[in-house]
Amino acid sequence: MADENAGGDLDEIDGDLYRKVLGRYPTGVTLVAAMDGDEPLAMVIGSFVSVSMDPPLVGFLPGRESYTWGRMSSADGFCVNVLSDAQADLSNAFFRKDVDPWEGTGWQPAEVTGSPVIPSCLASIDCVTHEVVEAGDHWFVMGRVVGVSHVDEGSPLVFLGGKYGEYRAQG
Ligand SMILES: Cc1cc2nc3c(=O)[nH]c(=O)nc-3n(C[C@H](O)[C@H](O)[C@H](O)COP(=O)(O)O)c2cc1C
Repeated sequence: MADENAGGDLDEIDGDLYRKVLGRYPTGVTLVAAMDGDEPLAMVIGSFVSVSMDPPLVGFLPGRESYTWGRMSSADGFCVNVLSDAQADLSNAFFRKDVDPWEGTGWQPAEVTGSPVIPSCLASIDCVTHEVVEAGDHWFVMGRVVGVSHVDEGSPLVFLGGKYGEYRAQG
């Protein structure tokens, strides 16, 4: 195993190496969505995590510099929409913002929070914001789950080392 920073001070870990190493860990891809007044907003988020079963809590980490999160955080809740491997283009549309990414999504307001639910996604998790904790250059946002829905077919979109991929079960 390459040990390029052995014994290094934690504050002195090389940024490129840090990104390379963390880039070996795969994530799923979600669209975390909320309303700013009557305008739907969403961010592409890979840092989604299931936090607690009882009470049901989930979390994600938006960057503190994020313009979109700055606007979304005025809402009382958010909906996490889990993307399928057929939705890389949808992820890119929200990431690049060069077209109206909501067009054709058929989004609907979630029953409890009114946050955007995208029905073609694998799963949608509606949350009331529970706690927002400072976490370095990000926020750790936790939500209490108040509604869930899912579709039975499909596989998740995976993100690894800066590229989209597909999940393949072994055996
Ligand atoms: C696959 C993927 C996963 C991402 N995950 C996160 C994340 O977990 N947290 C985050 O702050 N930004 C993440 N981003 C970047 C955000 O979508 C967004 O572009 C960035 O926060 C800048 O936001 P802004 O344009 O609102 O300022 C991800 C982007 C991609 C393509």
